[in-house]
Amino acid sequence: MALQSGRDIAPARGTLGVMLVGLGAVSTTFVAGVENVRRGSGLPIGSLSQMGTIRLGKRTEKRSPKIKEFVPLAELKDLVFAAWDPIPDDAYSAARKAGVLEPHHLEPIADFLKGLKPMPAAFDQSYVKRLHGTHVKSGKNKRDLAEQLRHDIRDFKQRSGADRLVMIWAASTEVFLTPGPAHQSLAAFEKAMEQNDPAIAPSMLYAYAALMENVPFANGAPNLTVDVPALERLAEERTLPIGGKDFKTGQTMMKTVLAPAFKARMLGLAGWYSTNILGNRDGEVLDDPESFKTKEESKLGVLEYILQPDQYPELYGNVFHKVRINYYPPRGDNKEGWDNIDIFGWLGYPMQIKVDFLCRDSILAAPIVLDLALFFDLAQRARLSGIQEWLSFYFKSPQTAPGLYPEHDLFIQQTKLKNTLRWLMGEEQITHLGIEYYEKA
Ligand SMILES: NC(=O)c1ccc[n+]([C@@H]2O[C@H](COP(=O)([O-])OP(=O)(O)OC[C@H]3O[C@@H](n4cnc5c(N)ncnc54)[C@H](O)[C@@H]3O)[C@@H](O)[C@H]2O)c1
Repeated sequence: MALQSGRDIAPARGTLGVMLVGLGAVSTTFVAGVENVRRGSGLPIGSLSQMGTIRLGKRTEKRSPKIKEFVPLAELKDLVFAAWDPIPDDAYSAARKAGVLEPHHLEPIADFLKGLKPMPAAFDQSYVKRLHGTHVKSGKNKRDLAEQLRHDIRDFKQRSGADRLVMIWAASTEVFLTPGPAHQSLAAFEKAMEQNDPAIAPSMLYAYAALMENVPFANGAPNLTVDVPALERLAEERTLPIGGKDFKTGQTMMKTVLAPAFKARMLGLAGWYSTNILGNRDGEVLDDPESFKTKEESKLGVLEYILQPDQYPELYGNVFHKVRINYYPPRGDNKEGWDNIDIFGWLGYPMQIKVDFLCRDSILAAPIVLDLALFFDLAQRARLSGIQEWLSFYFKSPQTAPGLYPEHDLFIQQTKLKNTLRWLMGEEQITHLGIEYYEKA
């Protein structure tokens, strides 16, 4: 069945409230970055929605508008922010402690940042062992906490005058959970909240609260959260966009560029050893084996899906893949990610590639938060419901419809994203066939 192209998209009128779960390094770098861009003291580098263009029609037509001029996105001037965190620091103190942005990006906007104070969190230390939160909600059970979050959402909407909202999880990585009976239906999920079932993590309470308040939800960490049937169905029923998991930033972004190149050229892979040193709070949280397990699963999956060892057993049937994250305080947010890649070519001769990425975690993540906020809002105005696979571009471990494997190749993801924008706007898909330039009728 051909899907009709071109949707009626409600205009991006009024303000968009971005509700951030977690007000740590990523969130404060995002908020402070948006404010710097609004004041003309920086560029939104790394943001496809702000810097990117999109080709329309044939190459000879020379139509390549900016994405933000092609699709009706909220403008930066129309964003307002709210956050929850179990640590009571306002966005200014949190940004200072995170140590990502320098004083010349923080001091001129100090009053603005001090105005963003986190609401008390739905937090439980058993899900993030290395954190000691004091600024937390109490309630008679998990359902009661979810109701308090719903109240916060309504209250923020009223207080800020926001016309629309989106929620993004940019909080710590929770311990590893797998889907169980409590996640299979809404009734089971609600009962489990009432019974304080350990299967219901705090992140799920935020996702549930968002969906019940008709707010799209995106998950920037690898926790299970909204990747369960009960919440997927809730999103579909309410025509709400959801997505995750885990922002694709440094090492995994490089992996999803390099691995498709090896496969495209039919070069074999013997092993891929990835290690990181990281000294921010995220690094400290991930030092706990249970939180690391959640991250590890998210980071390990990509090669398997890209390389398809079942189809290419001689090339990828025996890959040794290892990922480590080492907490090393002196580096702060400036992570160093090393990759040693053992490949082999013609007749099996071995070769090596070394990648040493001296990156800045939150500098890479902040533009992703911005794009997700804007595209999830667009998706809601276009009445796209459930998992937004076209936004896999932003995630290490993209959610997909049941029965589909995730697409990890960064450039396939980019093509999918841009083709979805073309489709939404009633423009032709670009197939890159181009035979018409050579075979004249
Ligand atoms: N920076 C990157 O490149 C990147 C990439 C992928 C994923 N992530 C993920 O994004 C998340 C944020 O990273 P960060 O560097 O900002 O970490 P951070 O530790 O600086 O900030 C996370 C904040 O979340 C808060 N928090 C924890 N549990 C909470 C809860 N239940 N409710 C509300 N707040 C809660 C913490 O108190 C903390 O302030 C982490 O899960 C990280 O793994 C980051």
